[in-house]
Amino acid sequence: MNAAEDRQQTTDPGPWAILRTENLAKIFRSGSEEIVVFEDLNLGIRPGEFVALVGESGSGKTTLLHLLAALDTPTKGEVYFDGKRLSEFREDERALYRNEKIGFVWQMQYLLPEFSALENVVIPQLIGGRQIRDARARARELLGEVGLENASGRRVGELSGGEQQRVALARALANQPALLLADEPTGSLDHRTAQRVIDLLENLHRSHHLTSVLATHNRDLARRANRTLRLANGRLTETVVPMVP
Ligand SMILES: Nc1ncnc2c1ncn2[C@@H]1O[C@H](COP(=O)(O)OP(=O)(O)O)[C@@H](O)[C@H]1O
Ligand SMILES: [Mg+2]
Repeated sequence: MNAAEDRQQTTDPGPWAILRTENLAKIFRSGSEEIVVFEDLNLGIRPGEFVALVGESGSGKTTLLHLLAALDTPTKGEVYFDGKRLSEFREDERALYRNEKIGFVWQMQYLLPEFSALENVVIPQLIGGRQIRDARARARELLGEVGLENASGRRVGELSGGEQQRVALARALANQPALLLADEPTGSLDHRTAQRVIDLLENLHRSHHLTSVLATHNRDLARRANRTLRLANGRLTETVVPMVP
């Protein structure tokens, strides 16, 4: 077995994967320049795994998360969610996938600063078709889980960075997603605040039965993961830590 096959095997759990990529490639072209971020990337993630995605700045972490989330399309290859090819999704199926199956948390939050914390968690549920009463009840519950029960009426623009990140976590979980994708969720936070968000991520991962993929530079966060995937020079390698029962 050569090194490439070995790598492919270790990152692919086969039919048990909730999320899988097959020979995934992303090449950006600008003018005559070609940026090959990765090629032939094979990755499989089992339900319930807590996966850290690490690698230097520019190694392709955000690009990979965008492809997994159907926010961008691959140059070659395929992403499978629950065995279904994302490339075969119609536009409404893609929208449903992004709104209902995935929760996102980004380094820079795309919250609505003029709206309250509660409204920020309610809105994605209304888009998903939930009744306002139910949406408000769930938003209150989620804001309680992230420790913001007393801030639900405050405008998000007035909250601290750590508080905003917790609103973002509550919002990510609003539609009971199967997957949590996070791009450097502690990147803009000070050490203590980052620590609190890491604890929350781990607790929410368990209590909401999520499958989580978190791109991170934070060693403490990477240490909590079952698996660490490292992107470097267009290749994915991994270290596996046995799952804690
Ligand atoms: N829209 C784009 N157009 C051209 N190049 C891009 C684009 N997005 C990302 N890249 C390039 O792809 C590479 C990977 O970027 P990125 O996925 O953001 O890395 P990371 O998140 O690991 O820092 C970088 O070289 C970056 O410059
Ligand atoms: Mg990035």
